[in-house]
Amino acid sequence: MHILFLGPPGSGKGTQSKILENKFGILQISTGDILRKAIENKTDLGNKAKSFMDEGKLVPDNLMIELIKEVFSQENFTDNWLMDGFPRTLNQAVAFDNLLSELNKKLDVAIEVDVNKDLLIKRITGRRICRNCQAPYHIDFKKPKVDDICDYCGSNDIYQRNDDKEEVVLNRLKVYKEQTLPLIDYYKKKNIYFKVDGSKNIDEITSEIVTIINKKLNINLSLKMD
Ligand code: AP5
Repeated sequence: MHILFLGPPGSGKGTQSKILENKFGILQISTGDILRKAIENKTDLGNKAKSFMDEGKLVPDNLMIELIKEVFSQENFTDNWLMDGFPRTLNQAVAFDNLLSELNKKLDVAIEVDVNKDLLIKRITGRRICRNCQAPYHIDFKKPKVDDICDYCGSNDIYQRNDDKEEVVLNRLKVYKEQTLPLIDYYKKKNIYFKVDGSKNIDEITSEIVTIINKKLNINLSLKMD
């Protein structure tokens, strides 16, 4: 399965990716998570990316394209993946298509998770993240099952992201509109674009996404809610 999630910051891409990864073993490739780890580990990439991320700007295309090439060149790389946060510009989308065609692969489906601006701000400013596995939580909408303990990995280090302050969030939304929104037309033209209403509750959205994947790939993933 080769899946892509599109959608503004805070729309729920990470939340849905984690659920699909957990239930169906589809590898979540989150460029935001990879970059945050790189910053924490003070790698060369992390040092270059930090100031862009802190200001809510996109990290330059050349760094992101190199990063994705590295991810896809790993030995025994799975053929079951879900892109969460890449591509985010037309340059990235074209480079990604070229990479996939070199590997004899193509995207099966691009799903936009659509949410209005007021709700996005509420979601992002209340978001908390597991530092260990990056699972997203929310102070009102999605608390861990046990207070301060991550549902997925059991870590007790749940924190607020640096770029989740309101002034940075507004810039991230602007950047999304200017640089990432054009990808919707790009994937519509390829006949792989679908949209879900991201303002619904988390389980309903998962169910809609699974229905789209099943239909488009002619498979039968079965969703049993916990
Ligand atoms: P990244 O980490 O990718 O951030 P983003 O795209 O801005 O997305 P978010 O993580 O903010 O939101 P999400 O849609 O995953 O929402 P979530 O599920 O957490 O990127 C960060 C930065 O890295 C970028 O700004 C850029 O600098 C850089 N970067 C990354 N990729 C790049 C690229 N390709 N090119 C250049 N730069 C790049 O949900 C949000 C909150 O809402 C959570 O609290 C969650 O619990 C809650 N929630 C989710 N769904 C629901 C629901 N249905 N109902 C109620 N609450 C919900």
